[in-house]
Amino acid sequence: MIVVTTIAQVRETVKAWRQAGETIGLVPTMGFLHEGHQSLMAEAKKNNHKVIVSIFVNPMQFGPSEDLASYPRDLDSDTVACQQMGVDMIFCPTVDQMYDSYFNSMVDVDGITQALCGQKRPGHFKGVCTVVSKLFNITAPDRAYFGQKDAQQLAVIKRMVNDLNFDIEIIGCPIIREADGLAKSSRNSYLSPQERIAARCLFEAIQSAQKLIQQGEKSVDVINTEMQSIINQQPLAKIDYIEFVDLQTFKPVTRLTQDSLCALAVFIGKTRLIDNFIYQQG
Ligand code: PAJ
Repeated sequence: MIVVTTIAQVRETVKAWRQAGETIGLVPTMGFLHEGHQSLMAEAKKNNHKVIVSIFVNPMQFGPSEDLASYPRDLDSDTVACQQMGVDMIFCPTVDQMYDSYFNSMVDVDGITQALCGQKRPGHFKGVCTVVSKLFNITAPDRAYFGQKDAQQLAVIKRMVNDLNFDIEIIGCPIIREADGLAKSSRNSYLSPQERIAARCLFEAIQSAQKLIQQGEKSVDVINTEMQSIINQQPLAKIDYIEFVDLQTFKPVTRLTQDSLCALAVFIGKTRLIDNFIYQQG
């Protein structure tokens, strides 16, 4: 495995791989890697000759009062995590390497970015789409892997790839969870032991919603009220949003239909956690 910090080095290596007829899978990450990230690597490994993992804490996708400075970083343990998974290249550029002082171009997907996290975090998806476009242009992968954990991000990237004709297949991968159901996230490392216990309430709310759905409930109001009541029982939790939207348009739905997305964002203390599930009939 090689660890590469410059765009020129990536291009040189990718060119050689391409000349040898090898396919490339890209897993974009912000590092502090866990089993969620590793599941994307495993999937990439299955279908490509070479796997590139990018590790870059992208300043452009953080709001001014968000956690850019404190975002956890550990390149040594990330290197071990990638090595374990048989990754071929880590691309971990500096901020200067990605954004020179004249940088002035952004990729802005409209429509579905107006809802959920896009609404709560203005400019976030513009930052994500810009950096992911750059990573696509730098690494020229055949396939790129994204987690369903960030359901809106996955949908936005698929839309961008479609709209701008990137010749890249986007593969969505299932949410990997801790034993108690909490979705794995680099940000879980912010949680105190007490907050870590409180954080279970996101999955508990999802489970109670799914139980209602199994009993035949289709009213978003009823399901949402149940989810809110579970999370509100937890004094350390503060709901940012719980919403039900159509997975194609990200417009709110009032009754569950095929491919409705239930997405939630909850502050546990100062840490903002997200989770979701997709309703599928039958
Ligand atoms: P990051 O939060 O590091 O996540 C990288 C990828 O791992 C994303 O596609 C995310 O959905 C996936 N992932 C994270 N936790 C997961 C889990 N528990 N189960 C399955 N997949 C999981 O998302 C980003 O970085 C950035 O926005 C990025 C796309 C790299 C652009 O900067």
